[in-house]
Amino acid sequence: MDNRPQWGTRAGFILAAAGSAIGLGNIWRFPATAYENGGGAFFLPYLFALLTAGIPLLIMEFTIGHKYRGSSPLSFSRINRKMEWIGWWQVGISFFISVYYAAIIAWAMSYSIFAFNQSWGSDTEGFLYGSYLHLAETPGQFGSLVPGVFIPLVIVWVVTLGILFKGIKKGIEVANKIFLPALFVLFLIIVIRAVTLDGAVDGLNAFFKPNWEVIMDGKVWVAAYGQIFFSLSIAFAIMVTYSSYLPKKSDITNNAFITGFANSGFELLAGIGVFSILGFMAMQQGVGVDEVVKGGVGLAFVVFPAIINELPAFNGFFGFLFFASLVLAGLSSLISIVETFVAGVQDKFNVSRTKSVMYGGGLAAIISIAFATQGGLYFLDVVDYFINNFGVALAGLVEVVAIAWFAKELRNLQNHADSVSDIKLGVWWRICLSFITPIVLGYMMFDNIRTNIAENYGGYETWFVSAYGWVIAALVIILGVLFSKVKWGKSTDFEVKDSKGDSK
Ligand code: ALA
Repeated sequence: MDNRPQWGTRAGFILAAAGSAIGLGNIWRFPATAYENGGGAFFLPYLFALLTAGIPLLIMEFTIGHKYRGSSPLSFSRINRKMEWIGWWQVGISFFISVYYAAIIAWAMSYSIFAFNQSWGSDTEGFLYGSYLHLAETPGQFGSLVPGVFIPLVIVWVVTLGILFKGIKKGIEVANKIFLPALFVLFLIIVIRAVTLDGAVDGLNAFFKPNWEVIMDGKVWVAAYGQIFFSLSIAFAIMVTYSSYLPKKSDITNNAFITGFANSGFELLAGIGVFSILGFMAMQQGVGVDEVVKGGVGLAFVVFPAIINELPAFNGFFGFLFFASLVLAGLSSLISIVETFVAGVQDKFNVSRTKSVMYGGGLAAIISIAFATQGGLYFLDVVDYFINNFGVALAGLVEVVAIAWFAKELRNLQNHADSVSDIKLGVWWRICLSFITPIVLGYMMFDNIRTNIAENYGGYETWFVSAYGWVIAALVIILGVLFSKVKWGKSTDFEVKDSKGDSK
């Protein structure tokens, strides 16, 4: 008997999938990545990666989850027992993402309170690294626990695990039905304000003006694929898990298009909002937009507070809206990231959901405390970089090659998707997954590994990038293989049926 929990409605599933996709990656990562990689010229690799890899992979993952009805490890093992480790590898990637992702949400939570009276003062950089994070002198030192980060971190975990305890329909679905529309409204208010600020046009020009020289640079293409995978939540077990809770009669392909375009639409909106605001800041300071742009952490937690200080009116209100949007976007994604290992543990060890949330989520929560120490930011920077480049992107590559060439499963998956979807998949889908993605991504991966061996990421010392970068990326693979050797707690056999209920 298949008593897997299910989403209550189609809209509930789409909101949950979009809620997972739209996250810190859209608001915090995309604008800076686009800018660093050629501004307007980045759109070409970005669109290429979205259409040839992002959406096709999303359709593939939705189909795998829907057809094989299991967490990622269970679904992969049902395709082929030898492929179970890929599912665990992706679950492991999610585990490591969850531990630092939660910390960034915790910062945003603190900053949404600081925003009310701009308690970060005028030196926003000094405030972030000094008064707030109490950043350690050298990378690799833990130092002591920072209460200002630890307390919101506890709240993040209580909320996330609380929602997960409640299950799929009553927990995840309800939370996303509230978080996502709320996020959209908050963010729209910010963007409307942003594009009407003086100097917004200069910011938008900087964002959209193509820099064609960079387009030939392999790094730009890696960045585009990395961004698409991270942002669409693909190759880290999420979408397989979420679609395993779809009722039998559910459209797959259309849902994937809606999720993919909603995510990219939001990403573009975030880019427009962020760059309009940067244009305003540049004008205030009488400098070029490129002088105020910073990537990653700096953009959201240094430049934004500085901009909020300078807004003509309602500074506290807009500051709160911005950081509250980060919290909402982050929480709906974190829920999905943690759900991957909750579902994996539950399937494998045949334990109740409550136990699985308690052990899996609890362990992640405990490990995440490392990011609430004085050395947290350095750990976060390195783990994030390696887990994305040699976790998410590499796992995406291995996944397509395994499905297309090892299990030769694409045609079966296509038949399954077509049997339930309005939009029928053409041969383009198989070409993208069998040839284009493996070739382009494979080449870039090779190039990227070479570059990273030649030069330490971020100028950090070798022992530090090795221990927290390379070792963690390798550890996730080893753990994946080890977990796949453990016996399943219950039989994994099941019968694949199509939408009409006929056995295949
Ligand atoms: N897809 C999520 C994000 O963009 C993980 O942040």
